[in-house]
Amino acid sequence: MSSSNSKKRRRVLSGVQPSGNLTIGNYIGALSQWAREQHNYESFFCVVDLHAITMPHDPALLGAKTREVAALYLACGIDPDVSTVFVQSHVPAHSELTWLLNCITPIGWLYRMTQFKDKAAKQQQESIGMGLLDYPVLMAADILLYQADAVPVGEDQRQHLEITRDIAQRFNHLFGDTFTIPEALIPPSGARVKALDNPTAKMSKSETSSEYHAVYLLDPPDRVKKKVMRAVTDSGHEIRFSGDPERAGVNNLLELYESLTGESREAIESFFESKGYGSLKKAVVEVLNETLAPIQQRYNDLTSDSSYIDSLLARGTARAAEVANSTLELARNRMGYLKPFS
Ligand code: TRP
Repeated sequence: MSSSNSKKRRRVLSGVQPSGNLTIGNYIGALSQWAREQHNYESFFCVVDLHAITMPHDPALLGAKTREVAALYLACGIDPDVSTVFVQSHVPAHSELTWLLNCITPIGWLYRMTQFKDKAAKQQQESIGMGLLDYPVLMAADILLYQADAVPVGEDQRQHLEITRDIAQRFNHLFGDTFTIPEALIPPSGARVKALDNPTAKMSKSETSSEYHAVYLLDPPDRVKKKVMRAVTDSGHEIRFSGDPERAGVNNLLELYESLTGESREAIESFFESKGYGSLKKAVVEVLNETLAPIQQRYNDLTSDSSYIDSLLARGTARAAEVANSTLELARNRMGYLKPFS
């Protein structure tokens, strides 16, 4: 962006929870796109560790997972000199704005969220935490604190973006113009990687039902191979892109191949013409491992000295806090709070 252009770059903010293991789906649908677009926006990427405790979690793993996700952001190409990378809980304004927004968010909006209903159904009624219901308000605070114009998220987060807009509009209406109304940036459907063991469901980083569900970014090559060779296909033999749910497994492998090679569908179909599912799987293993090798190399370099990531996160926190605190102050003023005395 040239300095003669006085128009401000649009802002984006996104985040990933430090739970489970980041998958090739997170890379294709999120991290690689964030990295590619980071020069076109003023970008903020956080590790949403406050969200990670809305379901039961293990305190012994939370800190290490938080560092791991931050390091994977960088290993996937997010440049800390270009984008602001930080940990959500290190910027207390996220918690504070959540409280202010809680008080203007009708509880009925939260009971209607499909993610709340799905996650609540997985727990005993009596042990569903208040935080799970409040998850979307915390997410709204994440976004609104940075006055983000756009939020790159998966299709499953569309409803959370809508409630964020509703909360922002309600606040602006009640107290005067304060927050930018953000828009969702949802990647095209080809960027939605399906589970290897169940190709009609999304590949999830926290699904633990089978070890053949997902390819993780830190999987060694032989594990990638084992997982892909076991991927669910069908009893046919045609290697073609298709929307037929019966053929979702082969389609998923083809879309993985397409995303990772950037080749056209025509070229891919003609390459695999008269080949069998076994050769498709072998080819997918190969491109996956070619993609993962440099990411893992960078990850190992970045984490060989843990103080390196920590110092980058300290820098990111300082920059994030500057923006977040100024928005929080504006929101407090709009709501009529007495300013603290010095
Ligand atoms: N709920 C998001 C997800 O599961 C994670 C998230 C939390 C987020 N805060 C955010 C995404 C703010 C974008 C912006 O994917």
